[in-house]
Parts: sequence; structure tokens; C-alpha cells
Amino acid sequence: MNLLNRLGIRHPIFLAPMAGVSTPALAAEVSNQGGLGSLGLGANTPAAACEQILKTQELTDRPFQVNFFCHHSQALDNTVTQQWIEYLRPQFEQYGAQPPASLNCIYPSFLDNDDFLKVVLETQPKAVSFHFGIPHAHQIEALKAAGIITMVSATNLAEAHAIEAAGIDIIIAQGIEAGGHRGIFNESFDSSVKTDDLVQLFKKHCQLPIVAAGGIMSGQQAKVLLNHGADAVQLGTAFVQCKTSNANDAYRTALLNQPITQITASISGRPARGLINHWHTSIDTPNRPAVPAYPYTYDLGKQLHAAASKQGDHGFGAFWAGSNAAQIRELEAADLINQLVLEMNFA
Ligand SMILES: Cc1cc2nc3c(=O)[nH]c(=O)nc-3n(C[C@H](O)[C@H](O)[C@H](O)COP(=O)(O)O)c2cc1C
Repeated sequence: MNLLNRLGIRHPIFLAPMAGVSTPALAAEVSNQGGLGSLGLGANTPAAACEQILKTQELTDRPFQVNFFCHHSQALDNTVTQQWIEYLRPQFEQYGAQPPASLNCIYPSFLDNDDFLKVVLETQPKAVSFHFGIPHAHQIEALKAAGIITMVSATNLAEAHAIEAAGIDIIIAQGIEAGGHRGIFNESFDSSVKTDDLVQLFKKHCQLPIVAAGGIMSGQQAKVLLNHGADAVQLGTAFVQCKTSNANDAYRTALLNQPITQITASISGRPARGLINHWHTSIDTPNRPAVPAYPYTYDLGKQLHAAASKQGDHGFGAFWAGSNAAQIRELEAADLINQLVLEMNFA
């Protein structure tokens, strides 16, 4: 059975799961238009994740995917942490604030326990995708037994092979152009492969269906990737300006005025692509110390953003965006799907 029939969707277009930006309304709008809507639930508690899935199910009876983080919880290095806090102290002070004395693990991992798994099994979304790694074998088995389709992001061939070996259903080929964090399993080994090259690599060496993600803003770009072996495409940045996304005004304005992106690990502790702001120009200097582990670093990044925003400076926002952000169109999600389909058909 081809991927569209298996997922029960009309168009090979997925809305990328985007923690902080996803909403039930955006997910439902994409699904109702024949694409695969999504919810990025990695930053939620299990109860909040459950609420969002139920809300989406009220808004659509079409299939959608939910997404969780599979990072391995790392022990925090105290010396690195204190150095990092001291490095950012002057930034806090310029906004009349002080950094915290220690950092918290703000995002639980799907791997930590089965709380998120229980939510997925109870609410039965059509598909579930994972970022930063592969779920435990017993979790994959439980999802399979429930008939829920599984997907994992891969940024190189070794990760794709591990995904296949684990019995996952679909590989998301996430290229260096992608907005936000890529799902690199071990961030010390970033292969930095482009989306198109990943698709062709996976097509040649893997058996599973491939979803291309990273830098796709138009139907013409999508068509090239489908021609090169992708079974579907996944777009994130293209949907951030949609009315039903959760992006705030500062993020939307920055996307319009300064749609140039760069990768930094300073915001969260893992490399992620976003709109260039203070993080890239003032923090990522040649003498920047090492960053603490993900997601502890993100705790401090969010607190600095909150302190700066209070004083009207939004330059410490985590305004994630892909390398082709300048091609963004201000369309409603349903219209964007229609436009992408038209462009794909006539490309
Ligand atoms: C604002 C934003 C948040 C994101 N959050 C997540 C997430 O929670 N989980 C995930 O798997 N991918 C996340 N991503 C990456 C997307 O899944 C996708 O790979 C990426 O958006 C594709 O590149 P594009 O933005 O150029 O379309 C995020 C991307 C953006 C732009």
C-alpha cells in the first residue's frame, strides 16, 4: 500500500510538528485540507499533550500525527553549567535581571518513562513521530500492536539504518536546511547533509518510505524531492505565519523583516536553525564557553528571553526558521495546502 493510502491522506504534504508553534487548529486545518496535520508535543506534560490531542480530534476526523522528543537525559556538568551561567550574567544584568543559580531539565524525554506512551495509546492518533532518537523496543511494540504508524527523523545514513533496524515505519529525511532542531541522535556527529542529498541517499540504501523535510517552501521544491525518491514532504517554516499557528507577534515580525537564518547551540544546548538575532551576533563569539547539555541550556535561554522581552527587546527569542524562510507566504494553512498542490501538479 502506498504511503498516502496507509496514512489515509489525499496529498503527500505533512505539516511539520513544531513545539511552541503547533496548535490543534493548525493541525486540523491541514488535515481537513487533505494533508497530514501534526502536533509538536515534546514541550508538554502528558496531561497537556492529551488535552491537545483530544482538542484536535474535536476539530477534525481526519488523520494527524503527534510528535515527541527521544533525547537521552544527560547528567549536567556543574563546571560547564556555572561557566555558562556566568557567561550570560551580563546579558541578564543589562535587562535589570539576574540568572538562576542552577538549571532545570525542562523537557522530559519519551524514553524516561511510559507516561507519553500511555497518552498516545489512549487517544490513538494515526501516527506518532520522534525526534533526537528512537523509542524503546517495548514502546515501538506497543504502538505497533495498537496500529499506530511510527516515524523517526534521520539526518544521516547511520541513523536511517538504526531506524529501519528498530522496526519503525517511516524515515523523515531531515536536511541541514531545516528550521528548528534537527533530530540528530548524537549532536557531536552532525553530518550536515542537505535534504535532497539525504533523500537520494536513503532511496538508494533504505527500504522504508521517506518523508523529506528541510527548506521546502513551494510545490516546485516539493516536486523535485518527490521525483528524487521522497514519498511525501514535511514543511514547518512555511506554516509559521498562518493565522492558526501559535507564533507571537515578535516572531512573525522578525520573519518578515529579517528572514536570514543561522544555526546555534547556545539557545537550547543542541544545534538549531533560527532567525539571526542576539544569540548569533553577541553570544556565539569566538570566546564562547561550551554549552551545558540539552535541554538544560534551554532553561537559561528561555529565562534570558523572558527578561529581555519584559524590557521590550525580543532579540533573544528562539525564532526557529528554515534556510528558505525568505520565501514564506502569508497564506492561511488551507490555502497554502491548495497552493502547494497546484504547484506540485504543474511543476
Ligand atoms: C518553529 C519550529 C519548531 C520545530 N519543532 C519541532 C518539534 O517539536 N519536533 C520535531 O520533530 N521537529 C521540529 N521542528 C523541525 C520540523 O519538524 C521540520 O523538520 C522543519 O521545520 C523542516 O524545515 P523547514 O522549517 O525549512 O520546513 C521544528 C521546526 C520549526 C520551524
